[in-house]
Amino acid sequence: MKKPVFAANWKMNLGPQETREYLKTFLEHFPRTDDRTLMIFPPAISLVVAGFALRERNDIMLGVQNIHWEEKGAFTGENAAPMARDAGATVALVGHSERRHTFGEGDEITAKKCAAAFKAGLTVVLCVGEKIEERDRNTTQAVVLRQLKAGISRLTPAQVAQIAVAYEPVWAIGTGRTATPDDATAVHSAIRRALKEVVAHRNLDIPILYGGSVSKDNAASLLAAPEVDGLLVGGASLDPETWATIART
Ligand code: PGA
Repeated sequence: MKKPVFAANWKMNLGPQETREYLKTFLEHFPRTDDRTLMIFPPAISLVVAGFALRERNDIMLGVQNIHWEEKGAFTGENAAPMARDAGATVALVGHSERRHTFGEGDEITAKKCAAAFKAGLTVVLCVGEKIEERDRNTTQAVVLRQLKAGISRLTPAQVAQIAVAYEPVWAIGTGRTATPDDATAVHSAIRRALKEVVAHRNLDIPILYGGSVSKDNAASLLAAPEVDGLLVGGASLDPETWATIART
């Protein structure tokens, strides 16, 4: 059986000092395990501290929340994928709805970032998800599949086979509303079918995570839904004990 994936997206929370304290508590509550995959995405400025705190825990992957698509240059305030790799990240979050909708990043930028991640030796968690008006218009699957296909358009089939996808309905992020397990299953199935078309000749084992207001109360029922291979958790991952509880679901 595929291992479930639990990913913590801290967003713009927990600077270096807080990261040190958080991870000390978290590691006390989360002993090493090999039956699940864990990923933690701190802010870029906390990556090095997080990497040091996790140096004896290679069961936990460190990720970067955002990268620029160029390797270096005059991009004030940005972080390049090779720098994130150097700081200890092995995976990049790409296409998060806050990048798409707060920072105006479209499909083309998402595609370039996915390619830049692989070029730097990072794998990718590619986020996709519809806005409430798109769901109301019954265009959820069309939107999600467009984002998915665009996001992977610059990757080789072998690279696509290494990504994870996170389905995060925009209306569920940080709102306390979640998709029902049935809704999640329907979208995850559509994503899986589309991936199989792209990587037709491979035995695909791409984890498809659900994200959006996951809590310790709803984690088990969402994870039990068919086609849900893991959870991407924002707000509820900011408390180390709560996150340890969710990651043990
Ligand atoms: P949330 O965020 O769990 O706070 O809804 C999830 C995410 O944006 O990845």
